[in-house]
Amino acid sequence: MKALVLSGGSGTRLRPISYAMPKQLVPIAGKPVLEYVLDNIRNLDIKEVAIVVGDWAQEIIEAMGDGSRFGLRLTYIRQEQPLGIAHCVKLARDFLDEDDFVLYLGDIMLDGDLSAQAGHFLHTRPAARIVVRQVPDPRAFGVIELDGEGRVLRLVEKPREPRSDLAAVGVYFFTADVHRAVDAISPSRRGELEITDAIQWLLEQGLPVEAGRYTDYWKDTGRVEDVVECNRRMLGRLALQVSGEVDPESELVGAVVVEEGARVTRSRVVGPAVIGAGTVVEDSQIGPYASIGRRCTVRASRLSDSIVLDDASILAVSGLHGSLIGRGARIAPGARGEARHRLVVGDHVQIEIAA
Ligand code: TTP
Repeated sequence: MKALVLSGGSGTRLRPISYAMPKQLVPIAGKPVLEYVLDNIRNLDIKEVAIVVGDWAQEIIEAMGDGSRFGLRLTYIRQEQPLGIAHCVKLARDFLDEDDFVLYLGDIMLDGDLSAQAGHFLHTRPAARIVVRQVPDPRAFGVIELDGEGRVLRLVEKPREPRSDLAAVGVYFFTADVHRAVDAISPSRRGELEITDAIQWLLEQGLPVEAGRYTDYWKDTGRVEDVVECNRRMLGRLALQVSGEVDPESELVGAVVVEEGARVTRSRVVGPAVIGAGTVVEDSQIGPYASIGRRCTVRASRLSDSIVLDDASILAVSGLHGSLIGRGARIAPGARGEARHRLVVGDHVQIEIAA
């Protein structure tokens, strides 16, 4: 079996972060989403993986390389425009050949095992097996309707009135039958070749389509609040590991990772938390649930439940919570005695100040 990972797309919901980096490289508990995806694929004993990349091709190729670091052989396929998930399958036709494959969205986090799903698929080899999960509000997802016996009846993309609470999580297993489906369908109203339409086509040809229920943690990391929530969850897996320097006046509580070259001085860090390589933390209170990237400076500040990306500075700011701070950002007080705020705010930034 091969794998096709989708890392193109436009990432509009994750602006402004996605103006500066691909959303698949946003770190969750210090590690890019795409690395979790590749780890899960390797755990299925798959070796051959193609990654579909868009405008951020260069960054993704630099970050993931040839895959040897993950025990995988990575190939990259360029998608000039995000024309849909089924369009990616079309582009990967030569790579996929006649082989079975797993299609995996590169911006989703699954903290669970997929090997039972893969095992079922390889055993029965339906034209498609869709990994589904019960969700409280399925309107933002591809929704799967089943009959009384659990057979897939219909798939609807983002229905206004969903007739089931089962959402496609973004992992699909296919045999080569899907190539006929992606060739047969036309773009949807939003101009994309939809994978839901391709699967619907398979159903209409009378080909078997299965739904496999997944019950562990799943998060689409498409929006800032999802990234922050997911970070909280994945930080929970950490164990204490101190490679950097922590002075005697500082206190680390619980699962705190202080990476190589980081310095923590006169500060209290409550885990789970990660202090990235080369970062300086002074006179501050960090955590719980804080991920601070590499080469950041945090001075005389308090921050919890937040992600700070590489090279950012947070100086004399208390009460940062639920935040996602972009690369190289600087948050600091103005000149002494100045009661006004001075903001240099990029496009589509959200700022919520204490009321
Ligand atoms: P989405 O999150 O559905 O789309 P998007 O990346 O355009 O984001 P937004 O809605 O915020 O604008 O895409 C799911 C995954 O599939 C994501 O990793 C991007 C990838 N993708 C492609 O590689 N090519 C495509 O044509 C599309 C639509 C998505």
